[in-house]
Amino acid sequence: MKPIKVGLLGIGTVGGGTFRVLRRNQEEIARRAGRAIGIAMVADTDLDKARAAVGDFARVSADAWEVVGHPDIDIVVELIGGTGIARELVLKAIENGKQVVTANKALLATHGNEIFAAAQRRGVSVAFEAAVAGGVPIIKALREGLSGNRIEWIAGIINGTSNFILSEMRAKGKAFGDVLKEAQALGYAEADPTFDIEGIDAAHKLTILAAIGFGIPMQLSACYTEGIARLTREDIRYAEELGYRIKLLGVAKRTAQGFELRVHPTLIPAKRLIANVEGVMNAILVKGDAVGQTMYYGPGAGAEPTASAIVADLVDVTRMHTVDPRHRVPHLAFQPDLLSNLPILPMDEVETAYYLRLRVDDRPGVLADITRILADLAISIDAMVQKEPGEGEQQVDIVMLTHLTREKHIKAAIERIESLPVVRAKVTRIRLEALGAS
Ligand code: HSE
Repeated sequence: MKPIKVGLLGIGTVGGGTFRVLRRNQEEIARRAGRAIGIAMVADTDLDKARAAVGDFARVSADAWEVVGHPDIDIVVELIGGTGIARELVLKAIENGKQVVTANKALLATHGNEIFAAAQRRGVSVAFEAAVAGGVPIIKALREGLSGNRIEWIAGIINGTSNFILSEMRAKGKAFGDVLKEAQALGYAEADPTFDIEGIDAAHKLTILAAIGFGIPMQLSACYTEGIARLTREDIRYAEELGYRIKLLGVAKRTAQGFELRVHPTLIPAKRLIANVEGVMNAILVKGDAVGQTMYYGPGAGAEPTASAIVADLVDVTRMHTVDPRHRVPHLAFQPDLLSNLPILPMDEVETAYYLRLRVDDRPGVLADITRILADLAISIDAMVQKEPGEGEQQVDIVMLTHLTREKHIKAAIERIESLPVVRAKVTRIRLEALGAS
């Protein structure tokens, strides 16, 4: 059979990895796909870099439009990133009847509804395994492997950079800024690292996971997003003393009223497998009604792990070429006209447990005042520790864990606690997820 010709848009770290993996495993890949798959054209603004990466094996061009319009190209792989020119190129490729593979989570979380609708109309596929958790085949698992289940919740460590920072802060007591620099040097961080540390990259990925898990449109703007920049070494240590680890978690949960969609630092019991995922590794826990909990673990970033997902998509798309478009796996797992319109819940209505750290004067009655406020708002305390004051200090840290309560109640409690004269600093609040069987 005629080989499949791929046009690559952008040959940075991931593009280079894709080229290498395709060449190294070409025989095996052809046996799986039923025909050879090769990169025929590469577009990059840096022509020297592109030529150095692909040698004589592919034509190099500075014009990405030439690639998406070229009659020889069957599949366009978009690795430019961002939501501007990448969106236009992907839409053009679709219009030209090309199959598309992309690793661009920001693009899909922001414009996925438009892109998938265009692909559906044109009868082409947009494959995006590499957009979430790098080399971990979570899209395939959720969309196909678990399609017999009603998905109840998804909880994932889906930003390797944040996890690397938290792991280094906990294990080596390093400061936040130092570890961030290391993550950038190692090539894990996004071009704009605030996407990693402010939880935005994780929100992009969670938006995609929620869509295919629950059969809802992409709703990035409804995703509550809080990053790790304000976490301190003290909170990481106190959490550990109480038997928890702090992770940047993306949580998507089905409730009777709607879906929760949130990214924030989270205490997780240290005994859970996912609490022990360290460094740049990613892990996603999925709870299905039939299968129970399953966990998917692996490298969430890096050249060849991400290339592994891209090449898998190339094989999938190549196989699908022979299938009638109406009988392909739907982009968002559910048929496009049957998506749910159950809302994403406002954050105030979300229910979790909380870790609270309070800096207070060390004198009688302080605790009574605080617990009175919590009791008035029906917030029940699960555990509490008062730390020893430092040498000559008149103030102490009180650390509390609450049982489940609504976000709006904890917000009201914190406001009242912070107005007490004995409370000397802003209350630190971190959400806690038990991630147990229910
Ligand atoms: N910056 C991302 C991360 C890379 O740290 O997980 C993969 O999307």
